[in-house]
Amino acid sequence: MIETSRILLDSEEIHSRLTREGVGCPLFYAESIDSTNDWAKRDAAEGAVDGSVYLADFQSAGKGRRGRVWKSPEGTSISMSILLRPEIPADKISMLTLIMGLSAAQGMKRVTGLDVGIKWPNDVVSRGRKLCGILTEANASVEYVVIGIGINCNMEAFPEEISSIATSLKLETGKAVSREEVTAEILKAFYRNYGEFLRTCSIAGDVKRAYEELLVNRNQEVRVLDPKGEYTGISEGINELGELLVKRTDNGQVEAVYSGEVSVRGIYGYV
Ligand code: BTN
Repeated sequence: MIETSRILLDSEEIHSRLTREGVGCPLFYAESIDSTNDWAKRDAAEGAVDGSVYLADFQSAGKGRRGRVWKSPEGTSISMSILLRPEIPADKISMLTLIMGLSAAQGMKRVTGLDVGIKWPNDVVSRGRKLCGILTEANASVEYVVIGIGINCNMEAFPEEISSIATSLKLETGKAVSREEVTAEILKAFYRNYGEFLRTCSIAGDVKRAYEELLVNRNQEVRVLDPKGEYTGISEGINELGELLVKRTDNGQVEAVYSGEVSVRGIYGYV
């Protein structure tokens, strides 16, 4: 049984798990930081290298998408950001979020055996509830990209306002999981998938197949919350840009839904 309260993340263990598998990224750890994304961005401005990883046990100003606050309880969650310097056009950056979503799902599944899925574009879910959140940021000239991920590992409960849509690996498996193992497996999967992505600058081949296998929205009825007008349809998978293909119920046309513009919900709820 792993004791989960107030035990610090062992970054040396993560490092050795990675080097054993030939993944040699610089790993930085802080017990407490404002936000690992902001930390990575500050370091990027000072010349930190491609592939650097920033990990913290506690974030005092964790950021979520759309300006929301992201809470990362000490001892039970993982807050991690990866700094990348990819030579890709700005319009391809959102695809990195899907690559991280896939890697997180693969890493969590490998460690826990859970039947996790991906709610497009990048939420990893179990039984319809969210296990992690991903926030990707880049500077204006795209000299670097920071992908931040917050993973719900060993929480035993969530605040009431999110308890119907959030869960943790511990709640799903019934036992505590090693945060070091989860972190290392996600990073291993990420560098593998990211390498494939860089080769083609698209989500193709095995990466696309793996993503679609885990896509919980696939062949499901979805509601597309497009600011230009909501519609429903059947989601058919993704294209090589990572856009969700939705066959509209009203006119049978297949729309490619871009993640920056719209949200997609299940017909009866979040997934
Ligand atoms: C979401 O709103 O779903 C995205 C949440 C992203 C949270 C992570 S935790 C690590 C990194 N640092 C941050 O400040 N945010 C991201």
